[in-house]
Amino acid sequence: MKKFEIKPKTWLLIAGITIVIATVSGSCVESKKIALKSGAQLWSENCQRCHNTPSPTSFSHQEWITVGMHMQTRAQLTDKERDKIIAFLCQ
Ligand code: HEC
Repeated sequence: MKKFEIKPKTWLLIAGITIVIATVSGSCVESKKIALKSGAQLWSENCQRCHNTPSPTSFSHQEWITVGMHMQTRAQLTDKERDKIIAFLCQ
């Protein structure tokens, strides 16, 4: 009877696939977390780290878009997060 044996290369492959699956499913969890957060929540969590949160009425829609682009780089937000915050500020 032939002995069934897993080669070291196969183990490497299994380990690689496991890491890929873990990374992919992990990032899905992350994006779901972001998806669950409302613009209001993202705004209150991110925009007062450096200064008082400006009230939504302080700027026009157009101004908020410009501010949003600028503060996205400062607050290191994703495009999705920035869009949600702007949508919240301009409702
Ligand atoms: C990492 C720090 C930091 C974070 C986080 C941050 N800001 Fe700012 N913000 C600044 C700085 C510094 C300025 C001063 C202008 C400049 O140099 O960019 C500023 C200026 C502003 C201004 C202009 C204020 C005025 O009266 O002219 C607005 C509006 C603003 N931020 C909104 C936001 C919003 C909305 C967020 C959340 C998405 C945010 N900021 C997150 C650092 C930050």
